[in-house]
Parts: sequence; C-alpha cells; structure tokens
Amino acid sequence: MAELGDAITRDYAGETVIMVGVLKGSAFFLADLARSVHIDCTFDFVAVSSYKKGSRSTSGAVKLLKDLDEPIEGKHVIIVEDILDTGITLGYLRKIFLQHKPKSLKIAACLDKPARRVEPIEADYVGFSIPNQFVIGYGMDYAEKFRNLPDICILPPDFPA
Ligand code: IMP
Ligand code: MG
Repeated sequence: MAELGDAITRDYAGETVIMVGVLKGSAFFLADLARSVHIDCTFDFVAVSSYKKGSRSTSGAVKLLKDLDEPIEGKHVIIVEDILDTGITLGYLRKIFLQHKPKSLKIAACLDKPARRVEPIEADYVGFSIPNQFVIGYGMDYAEKFRNLPDICILPPDFPA
C-alpha cells in the first residue's frame, strides 16, 4: 500500500485529486490507499450493477446505480476499484467519466486478473496481479457475503452458490 501511495503522491505532487470508489468492493482499499497518499484529495463514490446473486462473473451489461455527486470536469480523477477482472465495469466507467472531461483519468485497482480480460483496459496503479481464482474478503464479496474478512482469501471452486 505504501508503494502505491508513494507512486500516486509522486505523480500528483502539488495537485488535487478526486478518488472515486466503486461501491461496495473498493471500500477497504480506498480507505487504506487514501491514507497512504500525501496530497490533497477528495472522495466520491459510484455504484454499478453487480453480478447476479451467486454468480462469479459480470453479467456483461453494466448499469450505473449511483452517479457521481460532484462534477469532475477539469479535475484529476482516480477510479478506485477492488478488482480489474474482465474490464467491462471499468471500461464502462472510463467511457462515461471521459464524457465529463476530467483533466486526467487514471485507475487504481487493488487486484488485477489479466487472464480474464475481455475489454482492452489496464490499471495505472495495481496492488497485486493474481491468477484466475475467485477471491473474497477485504471488501470483496461472494453474493454480498465475506466482505468483512480482514484478509483476501480464495473462495474454493466447489463452494455452494
Ligand atoms: P469486471 O467488470 O469483470 O472487470 O468485474 C469487476 C468487478 O467484478 C469487480 O469490481 C468486483 O466487484 C467483481 N469481481 C471480479 N472478480 C472478483 C472476485 O474474484 N471476487 C469478488 N469480486 C470479483
Ligand atoms: Mg467492484
């Protein structure tokens, strides 16, 4: 976390940044990342439609459930996400955020599963790159459960839906 925070602090020295957390999975990561970043920053949150209950992958169609509260035009924006998986969610968010003409737009992802990518999108700041396994904890869920596990854990493939 310190390394990610240092990189962001360096890249945005003297600037103000809006960190936009993608609810709900990014909550823990945003809280830790923000405390490792030593620049002026504000928070905002968006929520997007998630998986069907008990499913382990994005349905493909993303819907915005909660929009930004503050305008991002002319601002430095970092989208903060728990996992970059197929890239469909972040591809969608990037597209709609760019329509608001931010001064810059970057992505910070706690985890990256490059093997699962469908959309050509990469994060600018990545905590860990992981293999194609379903993980829970540290904000990440399976059917809304397990977000409060303090550590990131692998959900066994035979765990009942
Ligand atoms: P994408 O649109 O496929 O990139 O999916 C991104 C979202 O799927 C992430 O923000 C997570 O909420 C969720 N997701 C992807 N992989 C996992 C996982 O292994 N555990 C929990 N949630 C996941
Ligand atoms: Mg998420």
